[in-house]
Amino acid sequence: MDNPVSDHARTEAGQSRMPATGNANWLADPAHEAPVTGTRVCVIGAGFVGLVTAAGLAQSGHTVVCVEKNEQKAAELANGDVSLYERDLPEMVNANLRRKRLSFSTDLASSVVDQDVILVAVSTPPSSQGQVDLTAFDEVLATLATVIRPDQVVVIKSTVPVGTARRAAECLNRTIGKTGQVPVVSCPEFLRESTAIYDYFHPARIVVGGSNREAVDRVVRLYRAGLAEAAPIVVTENEIAELVKYAANVYLAMRLSYINELSAVCDALHVAVGDVAYTMGLDRRIGSKYLAVGPGFGGSCLPKDLDAYIAMAERLGIDLVLAPAIRESNQRHLARTVQKVRGVVGGDFKGKRIGALGLAFKAHTHDVRSSPALAVIQVFLSEGAVVRAFDPAAMAQAQPLIPQVTMCETALDVATEADALVLLTEWPEFQVLDWAEARRRMPEARIVDARNLLSPEMMRRHGFLYVGLGQ
Ligand code: UGA
Repeated sequence: MDNPVSDHARTEAGQSRMPATGNANWLADPAHEAPVTGTRVCVIGAGFVGLVTAAGLAQSGHTVVCVEKNEQKAAELANGDVSLYERDLPEMVNANLRRKRLSFSTDLASSVVDQDVILVAVSTPPSSQGQVDLTAFDEVLATLATVIRPDQVVVIKSTVPVGTARRAAECLNRTIGKTGQVPVVSCPEFLRESTAIYDYFHPARIVVGGSNREAVDRVVRLYRAGLAEAAPIVVTENEIAELVKYAANVYLAMRLSYINELSAVCDALHVAVGDVAYTMGLDRRIGSKYLAVGPGFGGSCLPKDLDAYIAMAERLGIDLVLAPAIRESNQRHLARTVQKVRGVVGGDFKGKRIGALGLAFKAHTHDVRSSPALAVIQVFLSEGAVVRAFDPAAMAQAQPLIPQVTMCETALDVATEADALVLLTEWPEFQVLDWAEARRRMPEARIVDARNLLSPEMMRRHGFLYVGLGQ
């Protein structure tokens, strides 16, 4: 019999990752045509943040030009061809292209001229020392400095080290000289990949940092146009806005490491971590979100921002204990996930056929940057395992990074002749796989569920040796 508390814990954990009901906000329905606001916006960068922001602003009624220096990408986007795997984004881009509220350009200098607000949303990847590589950001600043006017507002959306807005203002205003000051506003983004459009229209908060009141108000109005329901708007200093982004991501990473570590304790005690997490989360001071166990946290943001935060503290001469421990804890948890698989295949990966279900760093995205799935697969490969994999969206992105892995056409194909399966990404389709058929295809049915996605009782009924995390 399924334990009802366990079932509830699984449902809660799933919901914490994916809003169940799409866009409840009518403003976010691509078919809805918001009144024109008359505000002209330039969004620089058509990466994940830039493109979602450009689409969200256009959908809110602003007139947006999005600048992308990659000519092929800009041309594809201008044709409505959105290659990012992000729910509702292609529809929203296309609806606003048709309304002529959204356009794409490769020419930064000329695109900035007629705009009221310029948002910088270029990528700020990690540098080799774990700091932030501001090359793309600085290139944009250098061009802006040649064309910007004091009646325009520059908004920093990219995640940047504390103090960057102040430095950017100095850079821009050096060239403008005595004719006025260009206001620089910090407006960090808190969008999650896979629910980004939902998050854009249902923000938990909007943070606007800056010292020029008129500029800050302009940015607040820009975002308020996309809100059907009230959201706290925090007007603050640039430095606080910049730091909040790091503080939030490091805190989320800490919660994830906490629950992943707790799963090891639960394993040793033979109790279900889902039940503990669910019961803990009922305390409103704790809450239920970000308490679903996984193979380790990943993605393009949490690990990078954790590293940058640690590097910043080092520069400030602060000897942090907790943040480096989060990083270490995540590494150990990844190793624990590998150990679970080692356990079910008898200790040695050499020649073992491992079937991997999931490659993306989380479900509903094709992003494999810092994916924990790839990290554990790389260990299997390095120890001589033969790995076959399936992911509903991320196989093309993953293949160049793990060329030795055979990508399968279906999830069931992964099971064929596999010595063990390992479920690494919480795609809902894995929950409803024909597990009886998967069982038939395996010489010995063994599965490690690194997302605790499946019902242990159901899997055992199908004849699997089922191993979860902290179950
Ligand atoms: C994260 C933050 O959640 C966003 O608020 C922020 O805007 C974004 O980084 C950013 O800085 O741009 P994202 O990287 O899309 O968003 O991913 P999350 O949904 O936060 O997931 C991060 C990792 O934690 C994934 O590996 C995911 O599988 C894992 N996770 C998440 C769990 O293992 N359990 C959970 O309960 C939730």
